[in-house]
Amino acid sequence: MSHKIVAKEQLSQDVFTAEIEAPLIAQARKPGQFVIVSINNEYSERIPLTIAGADPQKGIIRLIWQRVGKTTAELADLQQGDEIANVSGPLGKPTHIEDFGTVVCVGGGIGNAPLLPIARALKKAGNKVVSILGARTKELLILEDEFAKISNELIVTTDDGSYGRKALVTEPLKEVCQGEQKPDQAFVIGPAIMMKFCCDVTKQFNLPTQVSLNTIMVDGTGMCGGCRVEVDGKPKFVCVDGPEFDGHKVNFDLMMKRLNAYREQEQKAHEQYKKHRCKIP
Ligand code: FAD
Ligand code: FES
Ligand code: MG
Repeated sequence: MSHKIVAKEQLSQDVFTAEIEAPLIAQARKPGQFVIVSINNEYSERIPLTIAGADPQKGIIRLIWQRVGKTTAELADLQQGDEIANVSGPLGKPTHIEDFGTVVCVGGGIGNAPLLPIARALKKAGNKVVSILGARTKELLILEDEFAKISNELIVTTDDGSYGRKALVTEPLKEVCQGEQKPDQAFVIGPAIMMKFCCDVTKQFNLPTQVSLNTIMVDGTGMCGGCRVEVDGKPKFVCVDGPEFDGHKVNFDLMMKRLNAYREQEQKAHEQYKKHRCKIP
């Protein structure tokens, strides 16, 4: 069954959002879960994207993605009314949501998209939510307004100081941990290097920290091993055991090495797609 794009919007130069018809997924999904998308047919590359929101009544799910390579560029080229061949899910374990007390939610770049449904659910469960959103530059900051609505406190940082505070997210995170009301739980989602350094900070304060890992995935069902990571010295599959793990136990260095394994092939595929796309009138 194909899935119609009922709405699509560009959020920034390389970030897009779309509402997609997927009634069964919209009914079943929980915060923290994701789908695997194949755009054209069973031979298309399969890419995982977090379900950033859903409306079970309308039967739609919301995806937010950053154009980084061939398949995310192809998705960005689709328009309202176009169809996606396959959207499988919901996949992965839902986030454990409870009233922890005060939670600090840290998002980096496109990581704000998977963080949003979690922060929303944490707020609904009664938590005091402190959100820290970071981006390289103002243009790349997404979902600030949506986080403002559900956060008791919102801190925005950019690496180059073009908006908010000129800092990496680790700086305000440290201050929040040192503050009067020490958080009871942290959720951190963003590039692997950012999650690694945030976990180094929260470890110093014994602050339990959940991270959502963005490894390479193929099948999304625990069969191919593409998403293997090491957690607490043991192999885990992000698609079925995660995507969330105790950040203090994740081997981020190994994860980053595996993420770069196909860089050359990915770059070639993206170049070829861009060339081919230029020939389409
Ligand atoms: P490529 O040029 O092929 O790859 C660019 C980089 O993306 C690679 O170097 C690699 O690090 C990563 N990547 C490549 N292929 C895959 C793959 N099959 N699976 C996962 N990562 C890959 N991105 C978003 O923008 N929004 C989201 O909501 C989102 N949610 C995710 C949820 C999960 C559980 C995971 C694991 C990843 C998520 N990602 C999300 C990352 C997204 O899947 C990749 O950016 C995308 O696959 C890149 O595909 P590409 O062909 O455009 O880029
Ligand atoms: Fe294949 Fe997880 S994506 S085992
Ligand atoms: Mg790709």
